[in-house]
Amino acid sequence: MERTLILLKPDCVQRRLVSEVLGRFERKGLRLAALKLLQADKALAERHYAVHRERPFFPSLVQFLTSGPTVALVLEGPNAVVVARNLIGATDGAKAAPGTIRGDFALSVQNNLVHGSDSVENAQSEIALWFKPEELTSFQPVDAPWVVGS
Ligand code: RTP
Ligand code: MG
Repeated sequence: MERTLILLKPDCVQRRLVSEVLGRFERKGLRLAALKLLQADKALAERHYAVHRERPFFPSLVQFLTSGPTVALVLEGPNAVVVARNLIGATDGAKAAPGTIRGDFALSVQNNLVHGSDSVENAQSEIALWFKPEELTSFQPVDAPWVVGS
């Protein structure tokens, strides 16, 4: 089992697409382990995207992520990191494949609705950045034997 950090970015909240996007992850079979709505401050946004701090788009990206509320969630399931990234689609909404979240709802590179961790290691540090340990739940969905198999 893997865990991944997903952010429904401020454009997703502003456009009232939270239930649509969250529903796609749920319907895939990933388990919701944590969920909250919060307004990221500059320090949190800068730490979250620290890998991009030298990129020209970094100031704009931090401004975007702090411009409104974000829904942060942790999803768990087999290969959750790759599964979530495949559901999300390519970074540029204009180029993302139809059927993906970005492919269906985004046209922008920056305002692309959703973040997903890109490795198991980064998922662990991102989960620790956005959530306290006690905010994470552990339960077995009743349909797990049907979704995950044996
Ligand atoms: P994310 O981290 O949000 O899941 O997105 P990603 O892996 O698909 O893309 P990444 O390269 O990590 O970029 C992080 C976020 O920065 C914004 N971005 N803007 N203006 C630009 O050229 C540009 N490039 C990236 C996007 O919001 C992207 O999701
Ligand atoms: Mg990324």
